Amino acid sequence: MDDLRQKYLGAIAEAGDEGALESVRLAALGKKGEISLKMRELGGMSPEERQTAGPALNALKDELTSALAAKKAALADAALNERLAAEWLDVTLPGRTRRQGTIHPVSQVTEEVTAIFADMGFAVAEGPQIETDWYNFDALNIPGHHPARAEMDTFYMHRAEGDNRPPHVLRTHTSPVQIRYMEKHGAPCRIIAPGRVYRADYDQTHTPMFHQVEGLAIDRDISMANLKWVLEEFFSAYFGTKVKTRFRASHFPFTEPSAEVDIQCSWQDGTVKVGEGNDWLEVLGSGMVHPKVLRAGGIDPDQWQGFAFGMGIDRIAMLKYGIPDLRAFFDSDLRWLRHYGFRALEVPSIHAGA
Ligand code: PHE
Repeated sequence: MDDLRQKYLGAIAEAGDEGALESVRLAALGKKGEISLKMRELGGMSPEERQTAGPALNALKDELTSALAAKKAALADAALNERLAAEWLDVTLPGRTRRQGTIHPVSQVTEEVTAIFADMGFAVAEGPQIETDWYNFDALNIPGHHPARAEMDTFYMHRAEGDNRPPHVLRTHTSPVQIRYMEKHGAPCRIIAPGRVYRADYDQTHTPMFHQVEGLAIDRDISMANLKWVLEEFFSAYFGTKVKTRFRASHFPFTEPSAEVDIQCSWQDGTVKVGEGNDWLEVLGSGMVHPKVLRAGGIDPDQWQGFAFGMGIDRIAMLKYGIPDLRAFFDSDLRWLRHYGFRALEVPSIHAGA
């Protein structure tokens, strides 16, 4: 009995994990375990023998059972301690900071422009960047043979072979939104339409994708005088200083008469300042909406008239924020974005520039 006791207590003490411990239990107390077999032998003993061997076996069984349980608990404790040591977490460490992003100057300026025109009663309209040639050209009085089509360096979409319909285009200006808006809402109307436009052109002042904002105001008696007032009001609010404008006679197929508009500026050591000096910078095209364009939009030119303009958003962003190269706008260089970008929630207001 003592030998058995020594043997199994030793084995329990040595068991290194739950698996080994279970093997010891089976060897001693399992159905065919050594102790269990011994207990079965009790039946064949004389009553005197049984009286001493019985209680001794039972005591041994109890002792081993509690030794097994104690060892099992000790092993679980050890495993837990090991995990706690391995998965240790220092909750006093400072958090991992994530850098805040910035608002791109184009987004910022679009918001500023929208806020200023909203104050003058202009709603925002949008149109698709992939246009039909009808909206981008024909409806704007630019027929198929017109040189303006060639001048625009248009990107044409692919058509399946044998499909002879004219291809869709990446819109070359925001002017097609004029037609779409007139068709849908009729007159009177007062909208701006900011968005992306595309032309196959690339140098320091041109990128194949850039941004324009279209303006359109139609009513019974809208005139060039209203156009001039609205634009001067806009530029003064946008640049935060009184800005003079200069209208130069020009030509667009979709306006008659047409004018290109310059804003007053000065050049000093290679930097421009808007709103002072004797120089002029061209910033937009404009004019009175051509009767054919009104008609294409479903509006009766004998009843209604209005002005339209198209302005480069990237251009006026460069001017206001002193950004030298247009191409950098679309390079996604983080250093540039952090330098020229705006903090989120730097909410534009019409007074922000002052
Ligand atoms: N769509 C013209 C351009 O892209 C600008 C313009 C718009 C001119 C509206 C007149 C009226 O150059």
